[in-house]
Amino acid sequence: MHTPLKATLTATILTLATLTACTIHTPPPPPLPQAQTTTTETPRQYPGIHNVVAFHEGFLSGSVPEGDQGFDSLAQLGIKTIISVDGGTPDVPAATARGIRYIHLPIGYNGFDSQRALELTRATRDAHAQGPVYIHCHHGKHRSAAAAAVVATGLGWLTPQAGVQRMKVSGTSPDYPGLYACAENATPMTPQTLNALPGDFPSIAPTSGFVQSMVYIDEATDHLKAIEKAGWTTPKDHPDLVPAAEAGRLADLYRALAQGDHAKSMPPDFAAHLEADSKLAQTLEDLLTATNKDPAKLSAQFKLITASCKDCHVKHRD
Ligand code: HEC
Repeated sequence: MHTPLKATLTATILTLATLTACTIHTPPPPPLPQAQTTTTETPRQYPGIHNVVAFHEGFLSGSVPEGDQGFDSLAQLGIKTIISVDGGTPDVPAATARGIRYIHLPIGYNGFDSQRALELTRATRDAHAQGPVYIHCHHGKHRSAAAAAVVATGLGWLTPQAGVQRMKVSGTSPDYPGLYACAENATPMTPQTLNALPGDFPSIAPTSGFVQSMVYIDEATDHLKAIEKAGWTTPKDHPDLVPAAEAGRLADLYRALAQGDHAKSMPPDFAAHLEADSKLAQTLEDLLTATNKDPAKLSAQFKLITASCKDCHVKHRD
């Protein structure tokens, strides 16, 4: 179904107006504008979720749901299963409270292997039989779109080319060639191949311990130092490094730590520190995927991140 733009805009304005009025009394939220279809050429925004793009009927990619608003929007869109490919810990209680199941299958910014592609495809196939599925990363632009394209191709819903087209609608940056390669090389999967996998997926993926994550953070930081030296491009002696992917990985590692068990056992400012660092790394990632990359701005942003390592180590480690 196609909703005229004017009706959509009116509905959006009504939604916003209702939200502003929430402090006085809380009427039930109005129905959301019609969800995306695979012919919609611009991402949709709903309260608490952004960049929503359909890769098949009842299969939407977008950003991490923010708070009650985000989960309410997903419930209103009829979502029955959320699949997260982000590193952060899924808010399982918020989903469960709305009768929505969570599946957590994180992927990186440089692409993912055929095993993870199989798992994502199997998980989506089984979940989709129960109702609409929402797949998200953090921004809902890069990783979730690539995963959705691979799954849609795997299930024969889209050709690889059409999957890549939908990634472009999501705004997947060309600065992530590994994600595009996954979608371009995706192939349909047979029911036999999918059925051969165990079909029980975790709602929260097991994470590596705190110290191991610090080692990965250290590694991503070293890579970014080499990238900075090469004028914020891929260093000649390290051709495998993708600048934006390293910053995205850093943001992902910090986010997972901020929400993890170790942070819960520490004073509250510890998690806040990690969360702030995740935002700093995310801004670096955004600057690295911008059309005009300003080396001075990038270096200034990176300096904030490295200064923050020392600050936390002095307070909480040394
Ligand atoms: C919010 C606090 C915090 C921030 C921010 C932080 N660290 Fe750490 N880091 C720690 C703590 C705590 C440990 C000690 C962990 C332990 O040994 O239990 C640690 C340990 C380490 C280790 C030693 C790991 C090992 O093998 O024992 C390295 C390397 C490291 N951090 C690098 C970094 C770098 C690089 C950054 C910044 C890009 C950073 N850290 C940011 C808290 C932090």
